[in-house]
Formats: sequence, structure tokens, C-alpha cells
Amino acid sequence: MLTSLAYSSVSNIPARSPEMLELARTCLARNPALGITGALYFDGDQFFQVIEGEEDNVHALFERIRGDNRHSGVQLLWDGPIEHRRFGTWAMKFVDGTSRGCRLRPRFSDEKLRVGDTARCRRRLEEALAAA
Ligand SMILES: Cc1cc2nc3c(=O)[nH]c(=O)nc-3n(C[C@H](O)[C@H](O)[C@H](O)COP(=O)(O)O)c2cc1C
Repeated sequence: MLTSLAYSSVSNIPARSPEMLELARTCLARNPALGITGALYFDGDQFFQVIEGEEDNVHALFERIRGDNRHSGVQLLWDGPIEHRRFGTWAMKFVDGTSRGCRLRPRFSDEKLRVGDTARCRRRLEEALAAA
């Protein structure tokens, strides 16, 4: 079953750093073989990531990511079935939150997402990520 999962976390590595480049390389090298697509927002303070793919692959990847010491405070925002991928053309779309005009962070920091709202916030957030 096709699944979409999203979380936010606190970054332990700076944006625009060699560590971030290394992380991006890993995503791009590994995701295609697992049929994983998605988006990763990062701004040096926080990550926000959407992961799409077959349920087992998504959950196995999330377990690896959750234990990664390049970030902490991982908060699951949603995890459930989808009919269509939102980021189907991206092995992982990197969204640089430090770039001028990027106003995504307030959206995923929104309390409504954390208390399980969801459908509306999620749609807005995915649209913003797709358009970024
Ligand atoms: C914020 C963040 C996002 C990540 N996203 C991915 C990803 O999309 N795909 C991936 O393979 N690894 C991702 N990783 C790296 C994994 O945590 C892990 O290091 C990598 O999959 C290699 O796993 P392994 O050392 O167990 O083989 C991410 C790590 C962090 C901190």
C-alpha cells in the first residue's frame, strides 16, 4: 500500500554544510532503489520531511532516520495511506529554508499539525513544499 509519512525534527548539522551535502547524497543514492519519493525542508535549525512509497519501505526508512544522530526530537506528524504520490518526480526534493523568501517554517511549526489536524494543514504544507 502506498503510504505518506511526515515528521519534523531539530537539526544537529548546519544548513549549507558538507554534512548536509553528504546527507543529500545519501538520500539521492538510496531512495530510487526503494521507490521512495518526498521532500526535505532544512534551515539549519529544523528538518521537515515527507516520505512516500510502499508502506514497508517507508517505515523501514523512518526507523533508520529516527535513530540518526544528525537530528533529534523527531516528531511524527502523519503516517497513512495515499492514493497518489505528491512528490512522484523527486527522489527527495530539498527545500532550503535559509534561502530568501522561503516561508515554510511557520506552516510546519503550526500547533494544529501536532494535535492531529491534519488534512487541511497537510494539504497546505504539501502544496507549499511542492511549489518551493
Ligand atoms: C533529516 C534526515 C533525513 C534523511 N532522509 C533520508 C532519506 O530520504 N533516505 C535515506 O536513505 N536516508 C535518509 N537519511 C539517512 C538515514 O538516517 C541513514 O543514515 C541512511 O539511510 C543510511 O542508513 P544505514 O547507515 O543504516 O545504511 C536521513 C537522515 C536525516 C538526519
